[in-house]
Amino acid sequence: MKTILITGGAGFIGSHVVRLFVKKYPDYKIVNLDKLTYAGNLANLRDVEPSSNYVFEKADITDAETIASMFARYRFDGVIHLAAESHVDRSISNPMEFIMTNIVGTVNLLNAARETWKDNREGKRFYHISTDEVFGSLGVEGKFVETTPYDPRSPYSASKASSDHLVRAYFHTFHLPVVLSNCSNNYGPYQFPEKLIPLFIHNIRNNKPLPVYGKGENVRDWLYVEDHARAIDLIFHKGRVGETYNIGGDNEWQNISLIKKLCEIMDRKLARPEGESQKLITYVKDRAGHDLRYAIDAGKIEKELGWKPSIKFTEGFEATVDWYLENEEWLNNVTSGDYQKYYEEQYVKRG
Ligand code: NAD
Ligand code: TYD
Repeated sequence: MKTILITGGAGFIGSHVVRLFVKKYPDYKIVNLDKLTYAGNLANLRDVEPSSNYVFEKADITDAETIASMFARYRFDGVIHLAAESHVDRSISNPMEFIMTNIVGTVNLLNAARETWKDNREGKRFYHISTDEVFGSLGVEGKFVETTPYDPRSPYSASKASSDHLVRAYFHTFHLPVVLSNCSNNYGPYQFPEKLIPLFIHNIRNNKPLPVYGKGENVRDWLYVEDHARAIDLIFHKGRVGETYNIGGDNEWQNISLIKKLCEIMDRKLARPEGESQKLITYVKDRAGHDLRYAIDAGKIEKELGWKPSIKFTEGFEATVDWYLENEEWLNNVTSGDYQKYYEEQYVKRG
């Protein structure tokens, strides 16, 4: 019986990883440690909660003492670290939360793992989940590979880059058995509706404006969240210690094309006249330092571990829209009072 710590398991990607591990590995005890910030929601895991190999611990990774005591209590065999502040716009209005959780929180986990595994590192693994945003912004050509130099440009990506460097430093300096991955933009069920796709589904449904930053020319590489969870499973079990793997959807979309596609799907699903939802598109002031393009070359994970995205974008996108339309209660619950205030600040002021 192995005991695996998953941090940030109540968030978007974390909830899919927890679900996959709890179901696929009945002989693992899965401990989900999460602070339950605005982005963490136990409703994301309702189906998993009764499982006998699942435990939830509410804790803050910036609290070194609590983290050390969790490690002392559970003697984790492995860590899959997803807890983070994850939204670029929030990092622009409040960078300190990102420094604390993403950098200090990660180091607290590294220290606790180092202490717990000091006498025996055999079979142990610290897996740090990161983003393609650490590589900075691409022009119209090229893709990020694992050796692309880091060039983060938002407080979010700079804090993730910093945590990646620290994880690698603990490998080189203290021989902590680490593995890392950097993934492109994820989409799918349970994503907090501050991120582009769920926000726009929510707004179209409620006939609210669709705030497109700048000219909508920025490009993102979209991957279905369950494909990311599958990659995480593979890397956790089969990735080489000390290595980094890039994960991506090989699926680039300019924001405005993606938004128009979403409008088309929503018109169809809501039985609205063709072109109706597109009328909600509103161009607003661009995000400060808005990275133009991200694109991942996932050749290494494909070659070494045989991973490829399995869900076609057209199918994943439709399924995602259906999920949000069928789970209106989930959307209403997570868009609580606090979120309304944030939304006002971001968009009403932005105009
Ligand atoms: P999310 O914001 O949906 O979830 C983050 C989770 O972390 C939440 O449950 C939150 O409560 C928890 N958390 C935040 N601060 C914490 C703290 N101090 N202590 C304990 N828990 C805390 O994020 P996500 O989109 O699921 O991203 C998960 C990870 O994947 C992050 O590390 C992110 O950088 C990375 N990532 C995300 C994407 C993406 O497209 N969403 C792409 C690549 C990498
Ligand atoms: P987002 O989902 O915040 O992910 P990231 O910034 O981490 O890539 O945004 C995806 C793209 O959509 C990004 O180029 C910013 C843009 N965007 C808008 O145009 N309007 C919005 O309201 C949001 C949230 C994002």
